[in-house]
Amino acid sequence: MAILEIKKYPDDVLKQKASPVEKFDSDLQRLIDNMMETLQAAPGIGLAAPQVGVLKRLMVFDLSSKEEKYPLIVLINPEVIETDGIIESEEGCLSIPQCVATIKRAEKVIVKGLDRKGKPVEIEGTGLLSRAIQHEIDHLDGILLFDRVSLIKREFLKKRYLRSLRESNVGV
Ligand code: NI
Repeated sequence: MAILEIKKYPDDVLKQKASPVEKFDSDLQRLIDNMMETLQAAPGIGLAAPQVGVLKRLMVFDLSSKEEKYPLIVLINPEVIETDGIIESEEGCLSIPQCVATIKRAEKVIVKGLDRKGKPVEIEGTGLLSRAIQHEIDHLDGILLFDRVSLIKREFLKKRYLRSLRESNVGV
């Protein structure tokens, strides 16, 4: 297994739409294991394949540090089938370090998709898991936190983020 580089905004790969996974081969299993290891080494609860430069509809979650009842989750080709309620909360992103934005999301979400072997699964998410699922699905469609806030807020957050990148000399 290996820890992969997490792509940071404004990397172009983060703005593209990912394609469905079609082959459940050993390359995919390796990618999933590496993404899970990368996530566990990072201060996050979800990671989508485009964030490691792979434009495939695949995401992994590890909420064990927040809510122990959740196992590690792999979700492939996800499709939202039901949402309920709206809740506003602060959200961050591993691809936009230090940036926190208040985002409206559905309070509850039911998604269907495939597990790592290609078997159909359905997941009901509430609380943090619901938010994480919606955030990672956005990544599969090239949508970032910046796209979920007002224009004025977006300009403010982008400017502040790009300034902090320059100051910290973090490579983009
Ligand atoms: Ni993110």
